[in-house]
Amino acid sequence: MISRENPIGVFDSGIGGLTVVRQLMNILPSENIVYFGDTARVPYGNKSAEVIREYAVQDARFLLSKGVKVIVIACNTASALAMDVVRSHSTVPTIGVIEPTADAAMGKVRSRGVGVIGTLSTINSSAYETALKDINSQTPILSQACPLFVPLAEEGMFNHPVTDLVAREYLSRFSGRIDVMILGCTHYPLLRDAISGILGGDVDLVDAGEATARSVLDLLSSGNMLNKQKTKPRYEFYVSDFPQKFNEIAERFLGRKLEFVRKVQIYSNGDIR
Ligand code: DGL
Repeated sequence: MISRENPIGVFDSGIGGLTVVRQLMNILPSENIVYFGDTARVPYGNKSAEVIREYAVQDARFLLSKGVKVIVIACNTASALAMDVVRSHSTVPTIGVIEPTADAAMGKVRSRGVGVIGTLSTINSSAYETALKDINSQTPILSQACPLFVPLAEEGMFNHPVTDLVAREYLSRFSGRIDVMILGCTHYPLLRDAISGILGGDVDLVDAGEATARSVLDLLSSGNMLNKQKTKPRYEFYVSDFPQKFNEIAERFLGRKLEFVRKVQIYSNGDIR
């Protein structure tokens, strides 16, 4: 039986999804959370659709084995390529980042268009474009893959000349063409300063994590599934590997220390335990 006290399940290709967890903790402070980061197989952002879909289903199954009441696909790449297949395997409501973020972005358009930045796989999938066009087919959309942003964020090079240079290379073409930029990758909220430094202060940056956390709040409150308990929430983090500098990077993404972290094993049949 799934009850209100059951945790929210979140998965990501690695630790980037902690930027989404950070928003969930802010917006839903009473909820228990179980996180799975596939640190052994990250990155997903340059993998084929077939592999991303296979991994995403395995990740979701792991969360279901933990009794989650909802699954949040924090990874933009997995949301873009595997939403349908995860939903079809899931026995609980499943939310990806694409639709809530597209909704939030469209709400901020004034006279120009919407920009989308993400991993190669996210941009090549056109998932954001499709979701945005479903809301308003007239608004111009301009997309750009920014693969170097992921390692720059992991290196903590938030305010660094190299990041500014890379941001200029990727983002100059947006100049004067957009009102809103979708930060369509878990890592990009950490590079906010460099991104808005190039785009200018009049472009609204939409954080996929925040938009998604708000949509989880709506879903749980409309289904009467918000946790009403007043006890301190439980946060459990599971990863498939402990890569170099794991704690340092994870704390940077989450904005606090991870207390409960366990390594799980990925078996050859795809089971994660
Ligand atoms: N989590 C991925 C995303 O949001 C970025 C890292 C990766 O490529 O796996 O698209």
